[in-house]
Amino acid sequence: MKKLYGVIGDPIAHSMSPVMINDLFDLYGIDATYMPFHVSSDGLEAAVNGLKALGVVGFNVTVPHKTEIMPFLDEIDPMAKAIGAVNTVVNKDGRMIGYNTDGRGYVRGLKEEISSLTGQTVLMIGAGGAARGIYFSMAEAGVERIDICNRTPSKATELMRTCPFPVKTEVFDIKKAEELLPQYDLLIQTTLIGMAPKIEGTPLSLKGLKPDSFVSDIIYNPLETKFLREASSAGARTQNGIEMFVYQGALAFEIWTGIFPDTERMRENVLKQLG
Ligand code: ATR
Repeated sequence: MKKLYGVIGDPIAHSMSPVMINDLFDLYGIDATYMPFHVSSDGLEAAVNGLKALGVVGFNVTVPHKTEIMPFLDEIDPMAKAIGAVNTVVNKDGRMIGYNTDGRGYVRGLKEEISSLTGQTVLMIGAGGAARGIYFSMAEAGVERIDICNRTPSKATELMRTCPFPVKTEVFDIKKAEELLPQYDLLIQTTLIGMAPKIEGTPLSLKGLKPDSFVSDIIYNPLETKFLREASSAGARTQNGIEMFVYQGALAFEIWTGIFPDTERMRENVLKQLG
């Protein structure tokens, strides 16, 4: 019988996951289909129970349900519990188990560009939900030092305090981070500043940027944010948010099927969907 997978969110119509994951089922000859499900917040618990009752094998969870879904699952992987958000669920013999592949996906994508993450001096911009997963996963990967700057520094301090892996961190406001910019090898932009439709914003000035640094932005709409454009003009190598999206999907696919899929094909698929 055909296996059923999906993604729940609100809104969900523009999710690129169904086309990306169904293409992988075709590629690996797996008799399965992946569907988008529009689920509102007040229908979330019923949706989880419904997916379980229907025998759905696995599903992704997107905005705004990543945290709210947690009480409705039977088990949560330790990393997802630490982050406080789930983006991937697997139905294991009727037990719904939640994982978070966003941060680890980000790190896998970054490793494609930077072979050794240890020894890098890292500045992360932002301290929201996406930043949490990335910071914890970078710490898990053995990065020794990750500084954080945020409009509200107290949120960054709180994030740092709850990290389950050892990592050295200093927290700065934006102005201080701009002054210290020449010391960083790697900048990770995790806020939504610069995302369409408000494409004109940048989270901090790159005036002091080290020319041989690497600058990464988790936004993929637009493909090149103003922040990345400025980084590129200053001589830095850059990476947009496509990698994180592709690798979080690849890690979810691996959890469901045991196969780590062809990420180059996934990237091409996503770029085609973005037009
Ligand atoms: P996500 O889950 O996508 O990371 P979030 O949890 O709302 O979203 O976090 C948004 C991040 O963007 C935070 O770091 C936030 O800064 P604050 O902690 O000070 O709120 C940052 N952010 C959002 N809008 C901002 C703005 N206009 N200027 C500066 N920072 C902003």
